[in-house]
Amino acid sequence: MRLPLLALGALAAPSVAHVVHPRDDGQCKQTTVAILGAGMAGVAAAQTLHNASMDDFMILEYRDQIGGRAWHVPFGEDEEGKPYIIEMGCNWVQGLGVPGGPQNPVWTLAQVYNLSTVYSNYSNVSTYNQDGYKDYSYLMDLYDDIYDTAAAQAGVMLSDNLQDQTAKTGLAMAGWRPKEHDMEAQAVDWWEWDFEDAYTPLESSFIFGIAGNNLTENGFSDEDNFVIDQRGFNTLIHGMASTFLKPNDTRLRLNSQVTNISYSDSGVTVHSSDGSCVQAEYAITTFSLGVLQNAAIDFSPALPQWKQESIQGFTMATYTKIFLQFNETFWPSETQFLLYADPYARGYYPLFQSLSTEGFFPGSNMIFVTVTEQYAWRAERQSDEQTQAEIMAVLRKMFPDVDVPDPIHFLYPRWTTEPWAYGTYSNWPPSTSLEMHENLRANTGRLWFAGEATSPTYFGFLHGAWFEGRAAGREIGALLNGTCHANTTCHGRKHYERLHGTTPLADYSAVDGWTANSFYDFNDD
Ligand SMILES: Cc1cc2nc3c(=O)[nH]c(=O)nc-3n(C[C@H](O)[C@H](O)[C@H](O)COP(=O)(O)OP(=O)(O)OC[C@H]3O[C@@H](n4cnc5c(N)ncnc54)[C@H](O)[C@@H]3O)c2cc1C
Ligand SMILES: *[C@@H]1O[C@H](CO)[C@@H](O)[C@H](O)[C@H]1NC(C)=O
Ligand SMILES: *[C@@H]1O[C@H](CO)[C@@H](O)[C@H](O)[C@H]1NC(C)=O
Ligand SMILES: *[C@@H]1O[C@H](CO)[C@@H](O)[C@H](O)[C@H]1NC(C)=O
Ligand SMILES: *[C@@H]1O[C@H](CO)[C@@H](O)[C@H](O)[C@H]1NC(C)=O
Ligand SMILES: *[C@@H]1O[C@H](CO)[C@@H](O)[C@H](O)[C@H]1NC(C)=O
Ligand SMILES: *[C@@H]1O[C@H](CO)[C@@H](O)[C@H](O)[C@H]1NC(C)=O
Ligand SMILES: *[C@@H]1O[C@H](CO)[C@@H](O)[C@H](O)[C@H]1NC(C)=O
Ligand SMILES: *[C@@H]1O[C@H](CO)[C@@H](O)[C@H](O)[C@H]1NC(C)=O
Ligand SMILES: *[C@@H]1O[C@H](CO)[C@@H](O)[C@H](O)[C@H]1NC(C)=O
Ligand SMILES: *[C@@H]1O[C@H](CO)[C@@H](O)[C@H](O)[C@H]1NC(C)=O
Repeated sequence: MRLPLLALGALAAPSVAHVVHPRDDGQCKQTTVAILGAGMAGVAAAQTLHNASMDDFMILEYRDQIGGRAWHVPFGEDEEGKPYIIEMGCNWVQGLGVPGGPQNPVWTLAQVYNLSTVYSNYSNVSTYNQDGYKDYSYLMDLYDDIYDTAAAQAGVMLSDNLQDQTAKTGLAMAGWRPKEHDMEAQAVDWWEWDFEDAYTPLESSFIFGIAGNNLTENGFSDEDNFVIDQRGFNTLIHGMASTFLKPNDTRLRLNSQVTNISYSDSGVTVHSSDGSCVQAEYAITTFSLGVLQNAAIDFSPALPQWKQESIQGFTMATYTKIFLQFNETFWPSETQFLLYADPYARGYYPLFQSLSTEGFFPGSNMIFVTVTEQYAWRAERQSDEQTQAEIMAVLRKMFPDVDVPDPIHFLYPRWTTEPWAYGTYSNWPPSTSLEMHENLRANTGRLWFAGEATSPTYFGFLHGAWFEGRAAGREIGALLNGTCHANTTCHGRKHYERLHGTTPLADYSAVDGWTANSFYDFNDD
């Protein structure tokens, strides 16, 4: 049902200054809710409004398709010459859930839409160094034991509101101290941490890194399933959209690059690069943290300091999968993961995943290697030829007894320069408080912020985007239909003009010889 704008206006919460825009001022298209971006968060927000019988919304999307970072492309060829569909973006449903227990909403959707997935067995890993196969898997067992101790410690720190540390510090305190020159330990360190967070333990929050992992891997379950569906992972997002969008629905505007957003306490106006504009009572931006950080959008008025600080304070990672297809499978394809310890650099083409394996695409002769951060940025600046040559040199070290052929197909995305993403997903940096993250999530006037990065619990994950889209849709829905009560947060989210530290100056009074003045004068002493 498409509610007329005035009917919705009449139902709006009386406590909110409400402006009824003229139906058509000759320039801007009118809508009740403008949803910016058609990835998981945007589509979940729209479905939430639809579920509450609020169908007067518009979705503006930069690209010619929905799905956002759930993005697949054709690659290589099978025996009939037909390409395989591979995922450039998200690839796993992470933390599935147990029957009767809480279930990851993405896993629920995977069942509704019959998504083909394979269980990722992280114990099914072989270890290599520059001389070929070398079993250093005992380091993984050691890490796993220490991790449990560290996770418990992080839990205490969280509940006692103690000072956050880097994950490197937290893990070291529990006993995991990989030496910088011990490349096998460094490879295991990358596999155990960076493979998920796409930043090093030194660049990650101990408390929120562990809590985030807990909420997904213990909150649902510790199983991750790898998506091999030849319709693509985003078939779930298409499925959701089909519950409220008709074919060629004019409420979905593809190829619409938003360039300017002006917001106030009475409405939001959005301009796109083609000169079109949309005027809405409320808007939800679901742009990635990378898009917000790169000033790709002109906000009017400029976003407040507290908002800008939260955007620049959180971190956007890069996680790049590089795909290769060969004319034969020369690696041990019965094993899912092959970890490589380079003698000179941590994170140098560290992890290969066989796609030729039973359950995946047997006989495909495909494998992919993942790089993060420095080596992802480096690969993204390099030509395909350069990157391919480096990977081939690594594979020839890993398999010294094999005549390793060159690949017949080679492909990888450049996430950091995609103007609709600018990176892959967010990570919680050390010593970044919940307050700062609440500022990232808070609305400015009638502009709401949603997406993977705004989830304090599931940041970085596809299900984080689902929860955040739903939350924004619910809050705006409640404001619009007048079910927003003083005892809910839906009048707007909390933000902090000034962030609070964990070491008030007063604490120094306990230190002999310190006064507030001596603190400030310290450098002059
Ligand atoms: C390489 C990679 C691997 C990942 N692996 C996993 C995984 O295995 N499991 C998992 O759970 N999660 C994974 N993720 C994370 C997951 O993909 C994201 O959390 C999720 O897709 C984000 O959804 P979103 O709606 O918040 O943002 P997006 O999907 O980015 O949606 C935002 C939309 O806004 C559009 N947009 C941007 N700028 C503009 C503009 N100016 N005007 C109009 N539209 C614009 C974009 O095109 C996009 O469609 C991975 C991500 C990447 C990139
Ligand atoms: C909308 O309602 C459908 C049907 O009840 C449900 O499956 C879906 O999860 C709801 N969407 C959201 C985002 O809550
Ligand atoms: C689900 O997918 C599997 C494998 O792709 C297929 O064999 C099965 O027929 C599908 N089931 C339905 C109900 O679509
Ligand atoms: C996972 O892999 C390990 C090591 O190869 C194996 O022992 C175990 O049985 C596998 N688990 C499953 C569920 O396949
Ligand atoms: C991975 O699992 C397969 C099948 O169970 C098995 O043949 C193989 O040896 C395992 N590899 C490792 C490294 O455990
Ligand atoms: C993580 O989970 C473990 C095991 O359930 C728990 O002991 C710990 O407190 C949790 N830590 C955090 C930070 O949530
Ligand atoms: C949708 O648009 C396409 C391209 O303009 C057209 O071919 C198709 O018939 C339209 N479908 C419907 C249901 O209107
Ligand atoms: C959008 O922002 C750009 C860059 O600041 C500015 O030049 C342009 O005038 C703005 N357009 C609108 C319609 O506000
Ligand atoms: C693959 O190609 C190499 C040459 O690049 C060749 O030596 C090898 O025999 C080929 N393998 C198969 C299975 O055709
Ligand atoms: C009002 O909106 C909320 C949130 O979307 C929804 O849960 C509720 O059912 C709606 N109530 C009515 C009367 O539409
Ligand atoms: C919020 O207020 C409404 C009525 O104003 C009441 O029915 C509802 O129980 C309250 N909810 C909570 C959680 O206090």
